[in-house]
Amino acid sequence: MSRVTVTQLQQMRDRGERIAMLTAYDYPTAKLADGAGIPILLVGDTLGMVVLGYNSTVPVTVDDMIHHGRTVVRGAQRAHVVVDMPFGSYQSGWQDALRNAVRIMQETGCSSVKLEGGQRSAETVARLVEAGVPVMGHIGLTPQSVNVLGGFKVQGKTPREAVHLIEDAKALEAAGAYAIVLETVPTALAHMITQRVKVPTIGIGAGPFCSGQVQVWHDLLGLYDAFTPKHARRFAEVGAVIRGAVEAYRAEVESGVFPTKKESFYMDDRALELIKRMTASPAEDMSQAERVLAELAEEAASRPGAPGTA
Ligand code: KIV
Repeated sequence: MSRVTVTQLQQMRDRGERIAMLTAYDYPTAKLADGAGIPILLVGDTLGMVVLGYNSTVPVTVDDMIHHGRTVVRGAQRAHVVVDMPFGSYQSGWQDALRNAVRIMQETGCSSVKLEGGQRSAETVARLVEAGVPVMGHIGLTPQSVNVLGGFKVQGKTPREAVHLIEDAKALEAAGAYAIVLETVPTALAHMITQRVKVPTIGIGAGPFCSGQVQVWHDLLGLYDAFTPKHARRFAEVGAVIRGAVEAYRAEVESGVFPTKKESFYMDDRALELIKRMTASPAEDMSQAERVLAELAEEAASRPGAPGTA
């Protein structure tokens, strides 16, 4: 099965089909999301917060992204897999950015990379695209710059900021970005940007008028309690289900209800008897023990259904 390409994503946008993108960080979640028909999986650097337990995305490294990116690529057969370039992997110049992007592409097998920033990242995006690396842009609230932005705040609320964000989107489009994430910006501004660029816009906290939406796996499923952004909707309370199951497991181990016969393995009574005799008396005749064990093996092999029997 071939993966969704950037051309197909563009066609979806052109046909007015909304694109549902979702983060994934490991093999089982990628398999589930891919099976549910999600066309783009983002191995986001939110990994740092929802999986690795940091309080921002800043500590995440290229090696972290590669480790998790690989597992997502293995889990997803059809989805386009885009891997975030983490903080520090592209800000020091396009040469470093290219080296890291190539590593991420080669070592994960992903379909594209994503990086944050508009006009300030445009040259880097252009160099990567020129070298054959498809790039998704990301503007608005850019979490890697949270320390400069002064927190996780809505971006583009003033006319000056809004015009700057429109210019950012146009700069990314001109640089060759195949799509642009718009994070935590007013709905009207996201709508305006979506109308002014030809590439798909993917919103998160940017209202319903973007070409698509992206959400964080843990927010969607109620798996991350530290913070729930206003834009997130819990489609299921999987965290509560997991906790209930784990509590039931603990209770059944403690009360002896788990495991039962059905969940256990057995051995032949004669083999058990022999082992008891052998361990009780070290002088027990080993040749006799070996003979009984050989007989048992022969018996097992000749049972109907055993390999090699009719
Ligand atoms: O890292 C991430 O998960 C992201 C999304 C929030 C867009 O960049």
